[in-house]
Amino acid sequence: LGVSPNPRPCVAECALVVGIGHDGMWFFPIDLPTGQQYGKRYRARSDEGMLCLNHEFGGNSHVLGKSAPESLEDVRLSQHVHGVSVLRIKEHFDGWKVEASENARRITVNTPVAFAGPAAGSPLLENPAGNMPLGTVNNCGSGPTPWGTYLTCEENFNGYFGSADLNSDEFNSVRTEEQSRYGFDFDGFGYGWHFFDPRFDLTNPEYVNEKNRFGWIVEIDPFDGAQKPTKRTAMGRFKHEAVAIAESSDGRIAAYMGDDQRFDYCYKYVSNKPWERAIELGESLLDDGKLYVARYNDDGSGEWLELTIDNPLLAERFEDQAELLIYTRLASDLLGATPMDRPEWTTIGKDGEVYWTLTNNSQRTVADAANPFSPNNDGHIIRTKDAGDHLGNSFTWEIYLLSNDTRGTEGVFTDPDLAWADNSGRLFIGTDGGQPDGLQDQLTVIDTTKDVPEPKRLLVGVNSDEVTGFTVTPDRRTAFVNLQHPGNGNPASTNFPALPDGFTVPRDVTLVLRRKNGAIVGS
Ligand code: FEO
Ligand code: CA
Ligand code: CA
Ligand code: CA
Repeated sequence: LGVSPNPRPCVAECALVVGIGHDGMWFFPIDLPTGQQYGKRYRARSDEGMLCLNHEFGGNSHVLGKSAPESLEDVRLSQHVHGVSVLRIKEHFDGWKVEASENARRITVNTPVAFAGPAAGSPLLENPAGNMPLGTVNNCGSGPTPWGTYLTCEENFNGYFGSADLNSDEFNSVRTEEQSRYGFDFDGFGYGWHFFDPRFDLTNPEYVNEKNRFGWIVEIDPFDGAQKPTKRTAMGRFKHEAVAIAESSDGRIAAYMGDDQRFDYCYKYVSNKPWERAIELGESLLDDGKLYVARYNDDGSGEWLELTIDNPLLAERFEDQAELLIYTRLASDLLGATPMDRPEWTTIGKDGEVYWTLTNNSQRTVADAANPFSPNNDGHIIRTKDAGDHLGNSFTWEIYLLSNDTRGTEGVFTDPDLAWADNSGRLFIGTDGGQPDGLQDQLTVIDTTKDVPEPKRLLVGVNSDEVTGFTVTPDRRTAFVNLQHPGNGNPASTNFPALPDGFTVPRDVTLVLRRKNGAIVGS
């Protein structure tokens, strides 16, 4: 499923077919009750659904077959393989297939989007050019909402911007504090979009705020192909890895989120209203709420520090809540949040505990209780428990697992990234980074009901890929697993999923694992 195009298709085709860089995803049963019906009992279908699938990135040599674009046409090709796919999929006697649907669509960096929440309408999201808000990019992890929509997370958006005119020194001399804190650079990650598409030129005054339009969580309705993907500004702007939503007993929701950068932070968003009330009023739970950043104390306690303009310290730096949210990272710096070893995915365990993967941090020189290695080469997993049923402003925490401790065991793994817990206590972890013992990146599963975590390997990927996305059908007989950029797109490394032939460009894939008489079989 979801095999990306090969050989390279043309620009128009690319906006219509599955992209590359498969990452977070989610399966929505075709009969899922949404909106007013949410919360009603129903029998979820496990043989047909909408699959939302992120396309995080693909480098120029992989996508264009050359290191830099030479035209706007090349840039569009690169742009169109990024974004999100919404697919209808169905199980047949001979396996899962993609089916036609009026709600199936591709969402790219050129698709019209909407802004909502406190920063919508801010002049910091408008450009002198007056261009309408378009698109989403570098869609890394994801998370479903309890009301049947998909949240896609914009991670390394800075890398698509650059300066068409200035060299490195010149750019650094005009770079603002905000640009610097979000990692904007004169040439980004080398995509070269800024040479042909002025939206991505950081020094073009007509598009001065285009960069502020990225770094958000974006809500997509998989059952409405006409819906405008909506950027939820109340959830803050940073390098959003993924999101996990917990429901409190009074119907309010809490969203746990990581900012994946060395020394960046862990966040929580709490809605002000219970979901039933918000749905009655036609409001989104994701537009009206409080945003917090985490401070981990050495004694195993922690505090959620609220990012609000009502705090005089923040009011001194920011004009209003909109500006504060657009520059969330700077606000968190001012509150003294705890710098972490690259917060990746979050997931909610069966008893409401939250697991946070910290993938690694090669640059840490001073260890602390929550980040106990300097450098942290292999990563770790933290488990938090909120005081007050996800609504409080304090929590307790512990190190759940140090990857280092798995060395010498059969379940050895490092660099935890993807995380998903089911409601029976299984914790699935996908890895991103050089694995020990000659292993490739892998998907492993841990029984969290046991006192000591004992990872059991479920699958390993192929040369130089990452295991990025995971979702299961409601009956838990089918799982979908994404393998991202096998061989980093280099046919000399692997031709996967083609048989080895030395020249076929390897492709991102969505694997289907089916449970059969207790065993797992793949396709
Ligand atoms: Fe896109 Fe932090 O992984
Ligand atoms: Ca990731
Ligand atoms: Ca990672
Ligand atoms: Ca990754």
